[in-house]
Parts: sequence; C-alpha cells; structure tokens
Amino acid sequence: MNVKLKIFRFDPNKDEKPYYQTYEVEADPMDRLLDCLNRIRWEQDSTLSYRWSCGHGICGSDGMRINGICSLPCQKLAKDFKEEILVEPLPVFKVIKDLIVDLDPFFEKYNSIKPYLIVKAPPPDQERRQSPEQQQLLEKAIRCILCACCTAACPVNQNPETASYVGPAALVRSFRYFFDSRDEGAEERMALLDHKDGAWGCQTLWKCTEVCPKEIPVTKEIGQIKRRLYESKHPKE
Ligand code: SF4
Ligand code: FES
Repeated sequence: MNVKLKIFRFDPNKDEKPYYQTYEVEADPMDRLLDCLNRIRWEQDSTLSYRWSCGHGICGSDGMRINGICSLPCQKLAKDFKEEILVEPLPVFKVIKDLIVDLDPFFEKYNSIKPYLIVKAPPPDQERRQSPEQQQLLEKAIRCILCACCTAACPVNQNPETASYVGPAALVRSFRYFFDSRDEGAEERMALLDHKDGAWGCQTLWKCTEVCPKEIPVTKEIGQIKRRLYESKHPKE
C-alpha cells in the first residue's frame, strides 16, 4: 500500500521557522509507522530526525504526535490509516530538530518526586518481600516506559500558566512508590505531592489515560494519590 506522511520539519541551525514536508512510501499493511519513517530516512531523506530504539513499545523513546494524538509510531500499523498522516513532535517540549524534543524538563520533574524506594530500616537477610496482593496494586504503574505522551497530551501541562504542574508521568511513578508496601517515605512523598503543582494540579481531564500506550489508568491512580492525601488530613472517625 502507498502511505503518505506529512512531517513537521525544523532545524534551528538553518531554518527560520518550521515547515511541513510530505513523503510517500510503499509499505506492507502490517508495517508500523516507525518502519515508514525508517524507510524515508534510509531511502529518501537522511536528514529526517527522530528518536527510536527498541521498535516494540518498550523503550519509550519515539513519542510523537500522530494525527494530533500523542503516541508511539512503533505501535501504529500502516493499515489503520487511510488518508495522509500528519506527524509532529510532542507538544509542551521545545523542538531540538524535526521530531526530537528536549525532554530534560520532563526528567527534571520525574526526578523531583524521588523515583526510588525510600527505606529506613536496615536491609533484611533476604529480599524485602511483598504479598501478591501488594504487588498487584503497583502492577499497572510499573508498566510505565516514560514515553512522555501523557504529560505532552495534558492540557494543564500545555497551558503556560499551569505548566509548572509536575505532570501525569511523574505522578504515576509517585503512585508506584507511595503505595508500595515496602516504602517508608510517606511523609516526604506527601510534602512533594500535596500542593497545586503536585497531585492537586491534575484537573481530571483524562487526556493522559486516553493516550497512554501501556494502558495505565493514569487519571485513576492520580485520584488515588489525591484521596490518600485528603484522608491523611481528614481521618475517618
Ligand atoms: Fe508513557 Fe503511559 Fe508512562 Fe505516561 S504513564 S509516560 S503515557 S507509559
Ligand atoms: Fe521503543 Fe517505540 S521505539 S517504544
């Protein structure tokens, strides 16, 4: 089948402003859009720039906007697109070149929530154990591959006036530790989460959940964080 892609181009070293370039490739219907991008780069235009690594929805490096939706081209099949496909960089972040954006601010926010287990007790003789039920609670959040699609799709992060919001990806990782039975950093985590740019920055708009390629219930998990923060200040009688 013939696949037509209209792709955002911008090289700040030579372009005064961004523009769109259209390419056509022959593809098998079961080819992924990432295969189409690779074919363009390898056979037509080696200047086209984008990130990718695993090609299978694991590394999270190829987040971009496809027909207006933040997603991974390695998870999109050519057969599912009938018309010309619009391919753009993730919104929210500064464009470095073409489809590559600067993710430093994303990882700064991610690091700010202490994305690691906080433990105070000395290590046990064997591993720190969890029951299957305790692990099950974290199972969905652990799937996160830090692709940044949720944060880029979030209208709160897109609004310059509220862009200091830590964002859904950082909150999913907060959930993963806040509800981990082995974690002993609840007080530190509450201080990091209990403010307008933390969990309360979420306006429950569901965009993050809609775009997450790992089908993590992002908004629901942020809601569970909010509930725990609220109940810590308003204990049930
Ligand atoms: Fe990507 Fe989903 Fe993780 Fe957000 S929560 S960074 S969309 S995998
Ligand atoms: Fe690794 Fe798409 S290339 S997630």
